[in-house]
Amino acid sequence: MKNRLSAKPCILGLAVAGLIAGSLLISGYIGFVDSNLFCSISGTGAPTITGYSPAEIQLQSIIHYATSKTVPQQSLDEIHISFDVLKVRCPCNFLVFGLGHDSLMWASLNPLGTTIFLEEDPKWVQTVLKDAPMLRAYHVQYRTQLQEADRLLSTYKSEPYCSPTKAFLKGNEKCKLALHNLPEEIYEKEWDLIMIDAPRGYFAEAPGRMAAIFSAAVMARNRKGSGVTDVFLHDVDRKVERTFAQEFLCKNKYYVNGVGRLWHFKIPPAANMSEADRTSDRFC
Ligand SMILES: C[S@@+](CC[C@H](N)C(=O)[O-])C[C@H]1O[C@@H](n2cnc3c(N)ncnc32)[C@H](O)[C@@H]1O
Repeated sequence: MKNRLSAKPCILGLAVAGLIAGSLLISGYIGFVDSNLFCSISGTGAPTITGYSPAEIQLQSIIHYATSKTVPQQSLDEIHISFDVLKVRCPCNFLVFGLGHDSLMWASLNPLGTTIFLEEDPKWVQTVLKDAPMLRAYHVQYRTQLQEADRLLSTYKSEPYCSPTKAFLKGNEKCKLALHNLPEEIYEKEWDLIMIDAPRGYFAEAPGRMAAIFSAAVMARNRKGSGVTDVFLHDVDRKVERTFAQEFLCKNKYYVNGVGRLWHFKIPPAANMSEADRTSDRFC
């Protein structure tokens, strides 16, 4: 009996190793593997801040998704848009609005980088981290409600600290769309990828995505380095997501592709914009 039990982890280990070896062989065969192989399927790497190595996070992820009945809400085609960018940019700084059934997947796809989740519901943070303590998540309090979306859109221009040339996030209490009280680490890092799939925006009192969209635009514009920010917005079948994306993420300028309910933007830092765009009082 003892032998049978102790053999189980070995069989599981072999199965996981087989899965990885199999995917390596297949992906190499179809020319999928590139210089970032090390990043997308990492067998090494120092433990992250949560104490788990990138390989451990990926192995946990394989086991989780192989045994879970709940799957991420985004479709395979939608996930592929971000995955294609991660393959090129990882290891990178990846900021994700919302914790969900996709969180372990996003962290696993950026193994040697930093992936941080911002979640509106403190209880949901605890629930998710209990099962996946390797994830890094912060609770965020929003100052907006979905029912204010139209008013926010029509009045934000009268607040100077919401203007593209003056807007900042940390401590910006005057601009209600600015996420002004995030953990210091969020302000210190420059985010290469930002996924906006939260907060909830499907009932009047929900926070809505207005502040997340505005703040992502400000993070991208205010980068000190020259890197562009890949911003992914989910649920663009909804009016608020679409109108705020058009106003702040610039559908007409920075939209690169999209599928299903996901739009993808590449936003340059203000320093790399034309003089006219950099000094304009409009985001787009
Ligand atoms: C719109 S959902 C997106 C979910 C994510 N894309 C996924 O695949 O699971 C995002 C928000 O819904 C809430 N949420 C998602 N799943 C939940 C659950 N099972 N229980 C409670 N809240 C949940 C959280 O507040 C989260 O930030």
